[in-house]
Amino acid sequence: MHTPAELAALHQSLFGADPALYRAPGRVNLIGEHTDYSGGFVMPAAIDFSTLIAISPRTDGRFVAHSVNFNERIDKPIDELLAARSRHWSDYPAGVLWALREKGIDVSTGFSLTIVGDVPLGAGLSSSASVEVCTAFAVLGTLDVAMPLAEIALMCQRAENGFVGANVGIMDQFVICCGEQDHAVMIDTRFLTYTLAPIPPDVRIVICNSMVKHSLADGGGYNTRRDEMEAGLHILQRHRPEIKALRDATLDDLSKWGAEMKPASLRRCRHVITEDDRVLAAVEAFKANNLAAFGELMHAAHLSFRDDFEASCTEIDILVDLANRQPGCYGARLTGGGFGGCTVNLVAANHARAFVESMRAGYRAATGIAAEIYTSRASAGAHAVSI
Ligand code: GLA
Repeated sequence: MHTPAELAALHQSLFGADPALYRAPGRVNLIGEHTDYSGGFVMPAAIDFSTLIAISPRTDGRFVAHSVNFNERIDKPIDELLAARSRHWSDYPAGVLWALREKGIDVSTGFSLTIVGDVPLGAGLSSSASVEVCTAFAVLGTLDVAMPLAEIALMCQRAENGFVGANVGIMDQFVICCGEQDHAVMIDTRFLTYTLAPIPPDVRIVICNSMVKHSLADGGGYNTRRDEMEAGLHILQRHRPEIKALRDATLDDLSKWGAEMKPASLRRCRHVITEDDRVLAAVEAFKANNLAAFGELMHAAHLSFRDDFEASCTEIDILVDLANRQPGCYGARLTGGGFGGCTVNLVAANHARAFVESMRAGYRAATGIAAEIYTSRASAGAHAVSI
């Protein structure tokens, strides 16, 4: 990964202009999956991996972006860029310009961007939201427009929903804006309020990448799950109109009216309703420094993700089973949108090294796949970088 100084030098050589620099992290979700479009609770943390963008303004109305990772440049008039998505990495920065323009912010003068990142792609660690939030910070900074963090997060979610075509919730963009070093962020996605939960110093967040790639847009399963959940919600609303989102529903509601739903909808709704309760319990467990209780909730969350939400896969289940057998592992679960990607593991610091080795060996023996395993601290949210 380029250092900020190296990226600035590259930008200068590509565009002949001194850039401003911005960084936005990826995220890992400790608990609270698929609750963030039901007004529910989530508990993610920003991670060490990040996107770094060098930006300078243009005057010719073009968007010129060089991706270091793809070694590719796109160069288009802004109007053409924003006319339709192109199913290309540039959809993420373009989506942000589109959403900014929708908010009445003039982006027509154009920008030059040099982009580099080390958030693993398609791994459920929010590489896309990281690029979106970084672009938003970069463009707003260049235009000298101030915007509250929650509004930036919503605007980036809008980019993903309205331009990229993934019907995602608010969690990723929000934590990437509001993350704090060494803290998880407990977000109430209905009110967009949050509290910081310090990660105990004697624990490590270990992320195991199954190397099974997932996609949120275009048939990746995410939009279908969301539709199934919403079909169930509408049935509950017929009986109890005060249910505005699944956050307001209870297991009692499901036992009364779940039989009217398709079985898949019933399971999706059960996952979401029980997951909200688990997040609230997990917050209490964290506060009491009760990592064993936190780990059990992670485990229950995984079973619900696997059996009710049906968004796990064989490789991920193997990783979770392996982790549950390792000394010092409090809890393990699939993190993120699902259908592949990574597991998140809460591991006692003094066992972390042995955990990583044994997970690598065990996963390779079971699947033949070389997992990438990362030990990350919780990191800060998006920010400007000085060289
Ligand atoms: C993806 C989405 C989030 C959230 C998670 C599942 O990461 O971007 O909004 O729905 O999946 O919890």
